[in-house]
Amino acid sequence: MVLVGVLVGAAVAVVAYFIPWLPQNASEEATSIDRLYWFVTIICIGIFALVAAVTVYSVWKFRAPPDDNEDGSPIHGHTGLEIVWTAVPAVLVTAISIYSGVVLAGVENAPDGSRQVSVTSQQFAWSFTYPDTEVTSGELVLEVDEPVRLTLTSKDVIHSFWVPEFRMKQDAVPGTETHVVITPTKVGTYEVICTELCGLGHAVMRSQAVVLGSADYEKWMNEQTSGGGAAGGGGASDGEALFASNGCGSCHTLAAAGSTSEVGPDLDEVLKGQDAEFVRASIVEPNAEVAPGFQPGIMPETFDDQLSDEQLDALVKYLLDSSKGG
Ligand code: CUA
Repeated sequence: MVLVGVLVGAAVAVVAYFIPWLPQNASEEATSIDRLYWFVTIICIGIFALVAAVTVYSVWKFRAPPDDNEDGSPIHGHTGLEIVWTAVPAVLVTAISIYSGVVLAGVENAPDGSRQVSVTSQQFAWSFTYPDTEVTSGELVLEVDEPVRLTLTSKDVIHSFWVPEFRMKQDAVPGTETHVVITPTKVGTYEVICTELCGLGHAVMRSQAVVLGSADYEKWMNEQTSGGGAAGGGGASDGEALFASNGCGSCHTLAAAGSTSEVGPDLDEVLKGQDAEFVRASIVEPNAEVAPGFQPGIMPETFDDQLSDEQLDALVKYLLDSSKGG
């Protein structure tokens, strides 16, 4: 029985170890979460080996002879066994709870001096604002090895922020703020995924988390602060900034904004030869007239409320200038 248990345990351990079942680890939080996964996995391997060993042994040892059609002898309870199989799982579950609690407290704790980033979600886009510099971006740009505390909220329904490589996941809820701490450890580009069913465009509600080295991060931030501020003469009324902060580029291609998404119509194409009235109507009443080949109901109808008249004018002007100027 011991031999069977050891063989099964070894086989399962090999499978668990050599098949890469976790995504790449790219944050400090991921390291402690993965350690917890392995702790639970090792317990599971032990229990599976024990159960497999007892099962195989019993099938072999207590099998009925070919001509034996009698019932087995009746048995009733076994106090010692029952105490053991209650006590052992109780100890294991308690240990897992305590360890989970320790890991959770660790990954939710933002070190003093952590960077802050505000994350705004809406159907079906993410936008990221860096309060220190008031830069807004459609991508989450982070500096490697710098802990950052994200403050999440939503303009419409519940969304959920998730980057598998960072392991951390948090809901973004309208009317309240939630938080998540990330300390990226590897330079690279990772996918930001919405993991809460939020409407027709849920599956395409994606963005990117870009982790840069210190020098690149500073360069990026400088580019953002010098570019955005000067062009419009005032962040909020600048059409280019509005295009970025409202997540338009998450769904639409627009060469001037460097966006290439194909979820919604290509703005470089559909705005050719159009006037301001058409562009404005397409933003505030997106479902009144839908470009051929696209479904109604994907683009949110909330921009009328979210944007002031001035902001709409600025956005329309930006779109017309960009698509004509091409
Ligand atoms: Cu937002 Cu799903």
